[in-house]
Amino acid sequence: MIRKAVIPAAGLGTRFLPITKAQPKEMLPVVHKPVIQYVVEEIYSSGIKEILVITGKQKRAIEDHFDRYEINKENNYVDELEEILNNLDIFFIRQKEQKGLGDAVKYAEAFVEDDPFALLLGDNITIPNCTRILMSIFEEFRAPVIAIEEIPIEKARYHGIIKGENIRDNLYRIEDMFEKPEEPGSNLAIIGRYILTSEVFDYLNELKEGYGGEIQLTDALKNMVLDGKEVYAYLYQGSRFDIGNKQNWLKANIELGLEDDEVGKEMKEWLEEFMKL
Ligand code: UTP
Repeated sequence: MIRKAVIPAAGLGTRFLPITKAQPKEMLPVVHKPVIQYVVEEIYSSGIKEILVITGKQKRAIEDHFDRYEINKENNYVDELEEILNNLDIFFIRQKEQKGLGDAVKYAEAFVEDDPFALLLGDNITIPNCTRILMSIFEEFRAPVIAIEEIPIEKARYHGIIKGENIRDNLYRIEDMFEKPEEPGSNLAIIGRYILTSEVFDYLNELKEGYGGEIQLTDALKNMVLDGKEVYAYLYQGSRFDIGNKQNWLKANIELGLEDDEVGKEMKEWLEEFMKL
């Protein structure tokens, strides 16, 4: 049913300067892999075979990472990735100006055509697979569905927020949405996973700049909701790492590093010693 996925990865990543002067934040390593590889693997294990990555300035390394790589020695990490890449078609397009997430998504219109599609932010990791759950909700309701998480209310003004009616365990029908509201009326924050229909482009194409002078995807979805369209929100239960800032990137490396077969044991021993000091 969902055959296409879109990964916006064109943001400038200013919170990571100077690292992002010459390389994309999506290529930051989390244990063995760059962040965006986790995203591609989530798409692949959801059964989707066509991916469009929206890139921009200083993002060439992303395209190179998903190119073929020949080495003479066996390397499980490279072999695993090659296996996935043999079964995927990955396309790239450049966002011309960094005018916001909503503007980046507009570049996917020709790729998406009239199909529903998965949208995954290239700097977010969700374990276990969040997209697969969203796909099953989409199958049931045939309407857009986005993933959310509960956050402390005092942090809500830094996020996209939804207000909605709780229709069953972990599922809301959205009644309103706000991008970084000054006075948030809810602590349900949008995380970087969506299933959308091509109708979203009608709303994006109409949109004026919103918060921060950027074209906001949240505003397009809000207008859909206010027009009476059904949009659902799923309260994701797994671990989500938003690698958009340094603290979270370090936390992701520690948490996933501790769980890792190759480096986890040594890290745990070291961390225990370190915490004693
Ligand atoms: P962020 O809010 O994290 O912004 O974007 P950013 O520009 O990437 O990073 P900072 O704030 O400067 O540190 C959320 C998502 O939207 C994409 C980003 O790549 C990220 O996946 N995005 C944002 C675009 O693709 N284009 C844009 O113009 C802005």
